Amino acid sequence: MKLFEIAQFLKPEELDEALRADVSAGLTSQPKTLPPKWFYDDRGSELFTEITRLEEYYPTRRERAILAARAGEIASATGARTLVELGAGSGEKTRLLLDALGASLEAYVPVDVSGEYLRDAAEKIAAEYPALAVRPVAADYERHLSRIPGGPRKLVAFLGGTIGNMVPQERHGFLSAIRATLGPDDALLLGADLVKDEKRLVRAYDDERGVTAEFNRNVLRVINARLGADFVPEAFEHVAVWDPDDEWIEMRLRSRGRQEVRVEALDLTVRFADAEEMRTEISAKFRPERLEAELDAAGYTLAGFWTDPDGDFSLTLARPQKDHDSEEMSPGRLTVG
Ligand code: SAH
Ligand code: AVI
Repeated sequence: MKLFEIAQFLKPEELDEALRADVSAGLTSQPKTLPPKWFYDDRGSELFTEITRLEEYYPTRRERAILAARAGEIASATGARTLVELGAGSGEKTRLLLDALGASLEAYVPVDVSGEYLRDAAEKIAAEYPALAVRPVAADYERHLSRIPGGPRKLVAFLGGTIGNMVPQERHGFLSAIRATLGPDDALLLGADLVKDEKRLVRAYDDERGVTAEFNRNVLRVINARLGADFVPEAFEHVAVWDPDDEWIEMRLRSRGRQEVRVEALDLTVRFADAEEMRTEISAKFRPERLEAELDAAGYTLAGFWTDPDGDFSLTLARPQKDHDSEEMSPGRLTVG
C-alpha cells in the first residue's frame, strides 16, 4: 500500500547545481569552508543517527528528556493540527510530540534535504500513525520555506540544535523567514544546545570511536560521488575545537600533508598545504538570554522555555509577535550579535 506521496522540491539537477556552487565558493575561499548540509546523503544521515546514540553526544538524549516531560504542555499550548518539522532526520523524538498532540493533529510534514532517508523515516511514521496524513517534503529549508505546505494551527518544529549550525546572521534570516510563514495561531518549537563545560562539548564532537570523524569526512565522499572529485577522505584528520568568543564548536578537516584534489565537475584543482584546515561545520551553543534576544529580533514572543534537569539543552516555544514588522526593528528592541 502506498502511504504517501513525497513532495520533491529538490530535483537532482538542482541539488547538483547547488552543491557545485557551494563547493566552488568554499574550496576557492581562504580559509576553505564547506557548508554542513552536504554531510547528509544516506550514509551521512545514518552516521548522524549513530552519533545520536553515542555516550558522548548528549544533545539528543537531553532533548528527548525535555520532550518526554513537556510534550503534553506543548500540545495543550498549541493545539496544533499540522506539525511541520524542519530537518526532521529520523523523526525519532518527534513521536513524543505526535503522541501528545494525539487525534487533534491532522498532518505531519517532515522536511529534509536527505531525500531517501526522509522517505524511509516518513514511511515508518505513516505505518505507526495510520490516522495521520504524513506529507514528507524533500527540500532545502533555506531556499524552499515559503513553499512548504502548512494548514491552520501549525506548529513548526526545528529540533536537535540544528539552528546552531548557522552563523548569527543566517539564524536571524532563517528565524525571520519562518516567522513570515506563521499565522497568529501558529508557533515555533526550537531545540537549542546550551553553553557548558568545554571538555564535555569537545568530547561530544570528537568521540572515542571516531563516528563523528567519519561523519565529518563524509562530506568529502559526497563531493567525490556527485562532483567526480578525488578526495582521499583518510588524508584528512577530524578536528573539533571550541571557540570561546563565538561560543561555538567548529568542526574542521585538517590536511595530512600537502595534497592536490581534482573536482572534475568544476574543472577545478585545489591545493591543500600540510595541516591546512577547512571548516565544515559550526555548532553554536546558546545562553537563554541570547536565544530570547534572537527570537525577539526575529519577531517572536516566548510562550515556553524548558531545559532538562541538568540544564544541558533547551526547548523554546515561540509565537509570532502581534505587531512585528519583519523588516523594521523598533527602537529599543533587543538586537542580535
Ligand atoms: N531533527 C533531527 C535531525 C538533526 S540532523 C534530530 O533532532 O535528531 C540535521 C538534519 O537536517 C539532517 O537530517 C539533515 O539532512 C537536515 N538538513 C540539514 N540542512 C538542511 C537544509 N538546508 N534543508 C533541509 N534539511 C537540512
Ligand atoms: C545536526 N546538528 C545539530 C548536529 C550538531 O550537533 O551540531 C550535527 C553534528 N555534528 C557533529 N555531530 C553532530
